[in-house]
Amino acid sequence: MIRKPEVQAFLDASGLALRASTTGAAAQAAETVIDRWAVAGGSGVEAARLPVCDWIAPALKLAADGPRSGLAATFGRIERHLRWTRRGSADINEQTFWNGHANAVILGPGGLEARDDLWVGVTVMAPGVQYVDHHHAPEEVYLSLTPGEWWNAEMDWSDPGPTGAIYNPPGIAHAMRSGVGPFLALWFLPL
Ligand SMILES: [Fe+2]
Repeated sequence: MIRKPEVQAFLDASGLALRASTTGAAAQAAETVIDRWAVAGGSGVEAARLPVCDWIAPALKLAADGPRSGLAATFGRIERHLRWTRRGSADINEQTFWNGHANAVILGPGGLEARDDLWVGVTVMAPGVQYVDHHHAPEEVYLSLTPGEWWNAEMDWSDPGPTGAIYNPPGIAHAMRSGVGPFLALWFLPL
């Protein structure tokens, strides 16, 4: 498959941000993902949207004033093509989380570019929302485009800052939360 130019531009900007923001195990995980995305995957799923996606535009506006403005701009050119969904385990009775978050896969299973060797995805959250604790076998690197806080079983709640990254080792329990503004973060996992 030939990759869409706007997806390639997003990946180029992601690679620059990952390399600028990670060291150690996080940098190794990032290099694995970057190495794999050099080869394009298959064509992916249809776009879909949820009401919480209305927070994407204000989040991108915040990011436009930050050090990842270039990455945010490239993301802004692909977000309407993504299939935004709630986490599978989300409970409609927990309205803050149900209405307050959405995920989309950019590269990976169920993504804009379908493949099974990596995951590049994104989470948007409304202000004042905590993403449920979860865990998965692959290690994971997060890059934030807005302020937010992350927790894992080996780390207190922390804000990586506008140029930082969060690394979750394989299998660790972890979570994230927005503050007073919208939350937008990218995740990168080798599978
Ligand atoms: Fe995760």
